[in-house]
Amino acid sequence: MEKRDFITTEYYTKEEILAIVDLSLKIKAAIKNGYYPPLLKNKSLGMIFQQSSTRTRVSFETAMSQLGGHAQYLAPGQIQLGGHETIEDTSRVLSRLVDILMARVERHHSVVDLATHATIPVINGMSDFNHPTQEVGDLCTMVEHLPAGKQLEDCKVSFIGDATQVCFSLALVTTKMGMDFVQFGPKGFQLNDDHKKRLDAICKVSGGTYTISEDVESIVGSDFVYTDVWYGLYEAELSEEERMEVFYPKYQVNQELMLTAGEHAKFMHCLPATRGEEVTDEVMDGPNSICFDEAENRLTSIRGLLVYLMSDYADRHPIDTKKQEAAKKELEDLLGKAL
Ligand code: CP
Repeated sequence: MEKRDFITTEYYTKEEILAIVDLSLKIKAAIKNGYYPPLLKNKSLGMIFQQSSTRTRVSFETAMSQLGGHAQYLAPGQIQLGGHETIEDTSRVLSRLVDILMARVERHHSVVDLATHATIPVINGMSDFNHPTQEVGDLCTMVEHLPAGKQLEDCKVSFIGDATQVCFSLALVTTKMGMDFVQFGPKGFQLNDDHKKRLDAICKVSGGTYTISEDVESIVGSDFVYTDVWYGLYEAELSEEERMEVFYPKYQVNQELMLTAGEHAKFMHCLPATRGEEVTDEVMDGPNSICFDEAENRLTSIRGLLVYLMSDYADRHPIDTKKQEAAKKELEDLLGKAL
């Protein structure tokens, strides 16, 4: 294998994901203490966005610059994926122009195709299927806010609302860690059979569990309560009137629901939030809310992930130091000065 991509955490072991979390938190601590490790010096990241983004775009760009590299933003409409130029050609060209790629795509197959044809690592910056970089950031946040005396595998995480790609991603990563995952959401908006098949495979290895329920009692004893917007996905997108009819008030994260989950339950949200719909101001701005730490940890985890993938790539493609030295000497001779 010439390179490793980050398309879904299903292809990573629990230990590998925890290694990325550990690396992310160590780099975070170094930067908080004023040391910016130049771990991505001279490296370029290409960022393809088919959709708008605040957290993901800014996190990738900031991560690259803080670690000595550079990011190039390819905005929605600026690059064609499978339009005038095939995904295969775009992939092959960008593999020669940058060192690592990330793509936020409308359809999951686009990021899979990019990765298949690229010779450099490709990161899924969110698709209609999953949001794996959000998973690593969320894990960093849970590690930082673990209840006293508990390990990750002792925790229960409840997702409230519909089965968005963030809901599925949260299910993937929490079950992989051996945690108990609950989706409390209405029928018709619950994780589907394909999701369940994948979660079954994970739980078999990890000992994690998942529950999908319309009963609010299913969230009792939660350590973390998580929600996402109620919009539905793409062509299944709901109007405001429709989503209020489906989800409101039963699935709104308000103070009463938080107390049902548990007095000490922490509130998480991938953001952006639609205040007054899936979450109230009181919860989002309340003492148990950790959603802004979570937003900060998008950057934390993306730094760790970029370093992890680039280190892995460097291990697979070691530099021939003799050739490096000879190339330097040739340039010095040509320019007539030491470099
Ligand atoms: N959570 C998340 O992915 O945010 P953005 O859409 O702003 O990147």
